Amino acid sequence: MRILVIHGPNLELLGTRAPEHYGSQTMEAINAALAALGTELGVTVDAAQFNEEEEIIAAVREAAGRYDGLIINPACYTHTSTALAAALAEAGVPYVEVHLSNPYAREAFRHRSYVAAGALGRVMGFKDYSYLLALRGLTAALKK
Ligand code: DQA
Repeated sequence: MRILVIHGPNLELLGTRAPEHYGSQTMEAINAALAALGTELGVTVDAAQFNEEEEIIAAVREAAGRYDGLIINPACYTHTSTALAAALAEAGVPYVEVHLSNPYAREAFRHRSYVAAGALGRVMGFKDYSYLLALRGLTAALKK
């Protein structure tokens, strides 16, 4: 089983970016923890980060047929991108929406997620641990 983790814009800055919201782990550390948990769970975990919306959409398209599931933190595109929501729906790969922070505890513009309706599940507010919870949940769902 293969899982692709997609990190959206500015998440390459994790570690120093607003640690009160996003914690102190770097994206590289999060990816290493995901790979280690993947080994424990018996799944292969790949990870990629993109700043451009079109790159994320291309990665989602390419994941169809190659990955069994996606874990995606679309970052700011969560709140703006109907194009990403459409690409995820079209790809047909089950996905979990992840956020480090709890968007509902923040500004009103973060309360809308265009990708939420199509998600298998959503995990938010646990900082780096949100990703690990998502991997556990997605793996359990896919193994059923
Ligand atoms: C985020 C929340 C978004 O509102 C924000 O734009 C991000 C990160 C999170 O992981 O908490 O860039 O997706």
